[in-house]
Amino acid sequence: MEKQREEWQSKIGFIFAAAGSAIGLGNIWRFPYMTGLNGGAAFVLIYLIFAVTIGLALMLAELTLGRRSRKNAYGAFTTVIPGTRWRWVGALGIFTGLAILSFYSVVAGWTVGYIFKTVSGQFVGLTGSDQLKAIFLDLVGNPWTAIGLHGLFIALTILVVLGGIAKGIERWSRVLMPVLFALLILLAIRSLTLGPGVEKGLKFYLKPDFSKVGIETLITALGQALFSLSLGMGAMITYGSYVSKSDNLVTSATTVVFFDTLIALLAGLVIFPALFYIGLEPQGGAGLVFMVLPLIFDKIPGGLIFGTGFFLLLSVAALTSTISLLEVPVSYLIDEKKWSRKLAAIGTGVVAFLMGIPSAISQGANPFLSKLPLIDLSFLDFMNALFGNYSLTIGALLISIFVGWVWGIHNAVQEVEQGNPQFRYRKVWSVTLRYVAPICIVIILIYIIVTGKFF
Ligand code: TRP
Repeated sequence: MEKQREEWQSKIGFIFAAAGSAIGLGNIWRFPYMTGLNGGAAFVLIYLIFAVTIGLALMLAELTLGRRSRKNAYGAFTTVIPGTRWRWVGALGIFTGLAILSFYSVVAGWTVGYIFKTVSGQFVGLTGSDQLKAIFLDLVGNPWTAIGLHGLFIALTILVVLGGIAKGIERWSRVLMPVLFALLILLAIRSLTLGPGVEKGLKFYLKPDFSKVGIETLITALGQALFSLSLGMGAMITYGSYVSKSDNLVTSATTVVFFDTLIALLAGLVIFPALFYIGLEPQGGAGLVFMVLPLIFDKIPGGLIFGTGFFLLLSVAALTSTISLLEVPVSYLIDEKKWSRKLAAIGTGVVAFLMGIPSAISQGANPFLSKLPLIDLSFLDFMNALFGNYSLTIGALLISIFVGWVWGIHNAVQEVEQGNPQFRYRKVWSVTLRYVAPICIVIILIYIIVTGKFF
């Protein structure tokens, strides 16, 4: 007889784990960095629209497919339709997960580095943006530090994934997410009261200027919404596979989208006022938030403690996300290839570590990787755009078609209705998943191919 699949220990435990996957560097590092590069408020608005339409619909679709099949990102497809070619969507997702993990953990490593920098008082009494920049570049430009911290973070991720689902992941997410939330509110208040320049930051962040919107804005905003919600590569299929049949998936999906979006918007409210106050450029790139945050801590009584605590919590938030990234290939290898959890976690972790080395040395340490020819991006930015925007968007397109048309919306609705017998929004969901999401995505992709503006 087949062993019963592990399940989340409670309903709220699952929501915390899914929110833990969604909330992470995507909200606090990537969202302000993308907003800064894409002209501010108009980007934020488009991101918001994508998050609550395509994002929410796809979140429910992935969770539903996962719960019905009780399988990993690959096996989910073949379980609901045996032998289907759509399993390659799962394979793409698994590879995308490893690729995202590879550079994500590099940035998570910087966060860990910042815990030590803050606690040792390196940011005390800073006066200018140049110093903040120099401290960041010093950390990321040293190949050994960057690779070492990246390796450390992968090792931590492996350790938690080894512990299995319920024990490892739930325990972490439950306690620390609410604390992070409270801290962000405090920081937003401080940032908004810093002084002159703050209003310019608010305007940049909240007053849309649509003349700056181009096709790149659309694809990046959609990519950001998917990235932030951990969608488009099967992470939520995998997490859904551990959900009990009596849970209400609609409530879970809505809660996760709500909190994830709230945290991202809050992070922008922390970063942009302070950024304009200190006189940094919003187009600062991958280092943006690392240059701004220490400044705010320095202007708070007890900033050393708050700052250290913040980077510690941010590291934990990143960890609850990297766990979900690693869990995708791991649960594939366990289900389909009968590997032990231990071998799968260590094996895929090592692969992600090796794949991440070029990203780790692409922020100054290696001149070629720091500015790739033709596209003018660093290797890390390139991976971020290729996998974070394009792979996830293509994955989202294919998953929405699969659930909406191939497996079929009726089957999907039936699965949602277990645990939610009065599924009131099924029409809206059906239309969004079957028409809105695929049509929007196809239009964006065609436009990009026609204009050739890939990066
Ligand atoms: N959503 C996470 C964040 O915002 C990152 C993440 C975890 C992710 N799992 C994912 C992104 C799966 C895309 C796909 O930090």
